[in-house]
Amino acid sequence: MNIFGIETSCDETSAAVVADGRRVLSNIVFSQSKLHAPYGGVVPEIASRSHVERIRGVVEEALRVSGLEWEAIDGVAATYGPGLASSLMVGLAAGRALAVRLDRPFRAVNHIEAHVYSPFLSPDAPEFERACPLVALVISGGHTSLFRVSGLGRYELLGQTIDDAAGEAFDKGANLLGLGYPGGPAIDRASRSGNRKAVRFPRGRQRKGRFRLKGLDHELCFSFSGLKTSLLYHIRDNGLPADAAAQASLAASYQEAIVDAVVERCDKALREEKALVVGGGVSLNSRLRERLRELAACRNVRLLLAQPEFCADNGAMIAGLAGMGQGIGGEEALRLDIAPSLTLP
Ligand code: KG4
Ligand code: ZN
Repeated sequence: MNIFGIETSCDETSAAVVADGRRVLSNIVFSQSKLHAPYGGVVPEIASRSHVERIRGVVEEALRVSGLEWEAIDGVAATYGPGLASSLMVGLAAGRALAVRLDRPFRAVNHIEAHVYSPFLSPDAPEFERACPLVALVISGGHTSLFRVSGLGRYELLGQTIDDAAGEAFDKGANLLGLGYPGGPAIDRASRSGNRKAVRFPRGRQRKGRFRLKGLDHELCFSFSGLKTSLLYHIRDNGLPADAAAQASLAASYQEAIVDAVVERCDKALREEKALVVGGGVSLNSRLRERLRELAACRNVRLLLAQPEFCADNGAMIAGLAGMGQGIGGEEALRLDIAPSLTLP
């Protein structure tokens, strides 16, 4: 089963071919981050225009790299939510048009579910069902959520951020530190030589019964907006770091606060599960990966991190998940509207 997958929910135009839900034959990603960098964040109008410009080339390249002909494609899938409305529309329309043209079935896929699945796009990874029950962390520019997963399609939301996503905390922090956009990789790089204990930032613990927790366990929810404000006040009171060493230490302290908060909640979320599964752009963070490895060793669970090329938004995770039979298929998928606020479950 060769599935062609398309992903355009935010600022990456991506297409991929995945065999049997696991073997990635191609995964082409055009990142728009340079287009958005002057604005310090994603500009929806620029994103959708760029998707329209790029989608055809990315789709053709994904087929070419896969080494297959169109006839060998057994189905098409695209993200229908969550994400930016005008970006989602481009990929969903392109995917459906392709399915109709090829006369193949179409599946509409949930982007968050695809991030949960992304660590399984590796020949070394166990089968999804065998790894269950597991705890999944989806950590990106749009999401910071923890799930308990008992099987494919069986998800329980344990906790999520009540304000900014972790990726936003990185991007906004980098902006305050003058490190540019996207901020995650910039803070990751700057932190390497820094002293993580130079400044003590708050860890965003939640109080019980807060309205915004929506009934979720407060110990498993995240909040990053206070941390960003602390950095803002720190810079206001102390000025920007005087030299590269001071900047590295401030970045490393800020990063450590984010990583601490995330690792602490993963630790709390794990009970009898056999595996901790992590996907999303922020899971590229080197310190987070290191700390998650320590946690997994200490809790004796298997840590499944997405391979670097499948951490940030990509078509392979969409094609992979659809290849496992997930997502919405049939007539409904051909009529379905985009769902910018789609949740999981
Ligand atoms: O998964 P993704 O490409 O898009 C969303 O679905 O949101 O994630 C993008 C986010 C950005 O906020 C970016 O700063 C962050 O992932 N990111 C990182 C790193 N690389 C990317 N954050 C921390 N450390 C990194 N190395
Ligand atoms: Zn994403």
